[in-house]
Formats: sequence, structure tokens, C-alpha cells
Amino acid sequence: MIPCQRELFDIPDGINYLNCAYMSPLLRLAVEAGTAGMARKIRPWEITQDDFFNQSEELRGIAARLFHCSASDVAIVPSASFGLSTAALNLRVGRRQSILLLDEQFPSNVYPWRRLVEKTGSKIVTVGWPKDYDWTSAVLREINDGVAIAALPHTHWTSGGLLDLEKIGETCRRHGTALVLDLTQSLGAYPVDIQNIKPDFAVAAAYKWLLGPYATGVMYVAPERQRGIPLEENRVVRDNSRDFSSLVVYSNEYHPGARRFDMGERSNFALLPAVIHALEQILTWGVEEISRTTGALTSKIIDDTKELGMAAPPGCFRAPHYLCLRSSVPLPQNLTKELAAKGIYVSVRSTSLRITPHVYNSERDADQLVRVLRTVLRKT
Ligand SMILES: Cc1ncc(COP(=O)(O)O)c(C=O)c1O
Repeated sequence: MIPCQRELFDIPDGINYLNCAYMSPLLRLAVEAGTAGMARKIRPWEITQDDFFNQSEELRGIAARLFHCSASDVAIVPSASFGLSTAALNLRVGRRQSILLLDEQFPSNVYPWRRLVEKTGSKIVTVGWPKDYDWTSAVLREINDGVAIAALPHTHWTSGGLLDLEKIGETCRRHGTALVLDLTQSLGAYPVDIQNIKPDFAVAAAYKWLLGPYATGVMYVAPERQRGIPLEENRVVRDNSRDFSSLVVYSNEYHPGARRFDMGERSNFALLPAVIHALEQILTWGVEEISRTTGALTSKIIDDTKELGMAAPPGCFRAPHYLCLRSSVPLPQNLTKELAAKGIYVSVRSTSLRITPHVYNSERDADQLVRVLRTVLRKT
């Protein structure tokens, strides 16, 4: 278990922040690294040509350790939607085929597929909400030879349900179904092993569980997809880009691996140092340990709220770091406001109360939340 790490963040006394799935706070040292990076442009004459490459390669290497892949399989992206749109641009779906999504899937992993369906005359099949929370079995039942693409999350963002991606990946391969993953609500907080899942594309926005700044993210691209078409054509990913004097000797080739899929201006001197620091810190804590530590807090909250008629998915189907409590009665409309008035920050998503702690939280935070929930819910 990781002892409470609050001192590494700048969270004032009286704030009980249980909303990492919305947006994580930045680490103090990530802010310092980002501020120093931003200040570099005060003196652009000190920014060298190598600087356009070195930090990007460093980020690729660190992200690869989280994905368990090679650095060359990682692209640098600004958002989950950028990565998912890249996948949609590169995958084929026949007129009689379908694309598989989940009920209440996050919009960034819906709209690119709607566009592809419009273009190809194919259709979307939506996996219905399983009453027993077993999203994995519900997905496995729907995969067949007619499914060209399964575009799925790891953690279902409004239920906290966890998908068994290894099982799903294996079934997709048997049916020739391409697998595209949105890992935004899991990478960094729950172990992911790309080698065992073998997706075609897997993206994570970094501003939640990767503790990065907004507008940063990383994407895994399978080696067999690395000859594809980038969403943006940028000069820095072309194979001659290190020679700034010959950029107008236009090249048809890219740097190897997933680099061709990098966003334009990926060498962001302000943002990359902050993401690099955050990912290094996550690797120092260890993803398994983060999962165990946050899982202990959410389990405690489940136990302590049982008497309030709040239900969570069963442990075997639930992402440990991500708790969505469904109430048997409608939640009061101003619940998040009432909690915020006491310094407690959580979210309401769909009909559940979403509680997502990180290593800056402690048992005291869990106890305070339960105490205040008892008062607020009993009042209504
Ligand atoms: C499941 C999931 N995916 C992706 C995102 C972010 O998407 P984007 O980076 O496209 O804004 C969120 C944000 O809440 C999310 O919950």
C-alpha cells in the first residue's frame, strides 16, 4: 500500500478531492517542470534542433513502460479523440459489417465511429448495459465475423465496470475483428499489458490517471498498423526532419514506428516535461500499487455506504480505482454542490455518484465523504 502522497501535490487543507476521473491535480514538480519548459521560449535562441526530438523520445520511452510495448509503438497525441479518429481513419469496415460499442460509451469513442458508419453504410451495434455488470461476457456474446471493429474502453466510465481485455482481444483475433481501446480511465491506475491484449490502437488522454496537463496523451499502435495514414501531416515526423535546412526537399517517408501518427507540434516544450515527470512518478509508485491503494479506499467506501442503499458493481467486475455508486432512489439534484460546500469533490455521471480517489487521498477522506453523505442523503 502506498502511504498518502498528499505532500507531493498542492491540495489545500479542507479540500477532499475524490474526482481523479474528472481531472487529476498536477504534481508540484510537474508544475515546476512545465513552468521551466514554458519559460524556455523567453529565449528561443537557446532552443536547439535536437530539442524537437529528445523530449518526445523520452516521453515515448516512459509511456512504453506503462503500456508494456516498445517506444517505437507509441505516438504522442493531444486527446483521446485524436487517437480514436486516427484509428477510424485507418480501419476498414464493409457495408454489411458493424462496429461494436458499449451503452453510455464516452462520446470521443462514439463520434469517430458514427462518421465511419455514415461513410461506409455499415452500422453500429451497441452492447446493452448488463444487469449483473458483467460487461466482458456481454461484449463476448456480440463479437462474431460480422463485427469489423470493437471500439471499447477498459473501465466503463459511468458504471466503473472493468472489461477483461485479454479475453476480448483473444476473441477479436479469432473473428478478424480490429480492437481499438480507450484507456483514458485506466492507464496509470490499473495494470495494462498490451502484449497480452494485442489491440490495433490504444489511446489514453493524460489529464486524468496519468496526472498530466490537459491536451496531452499517448497512443499505442500495433506494428502491423504502423504503415497507416496520420490524422495530421506534420514535417517533424518525416524522415528528413532532423535537417532543418532541407525541409523543402519534401520526403515521402516517415520516421519509423508509430511516430508518423504524432500530432502536429508534438515537441511541446511547456507540456512534455510535465507529462514526463508525472509518468516517471507513476512508474516509481508502481501501477499495481496505485491500483491496490485506491482499491482499498473504494472498498472501504462501499462497505461504509451499504446502509444508505447505494450499490456498486461486484468486486470481480469493478475497476478498483473507479467507484460508481448507484442509489436505489434518485440522487438529490444538488448533491455535488452540497458536498463541494463541505470541501468534498466527486461527480455525478448518469445516475451514479462517481468517487475516484488517488494516492493523495487517505482513509480520513473516505470517512469524511461517508459521514457527509449520511447526513445529506438522510435529509432527502
Ligand atoms: C472514457 C473517457 N475517454 C476519453 C475522455 C477524454 O476524451 P478527449 O481526450 O477526447 O477529450 C474522457 C473524459 O472524461 C473519458 O472519460
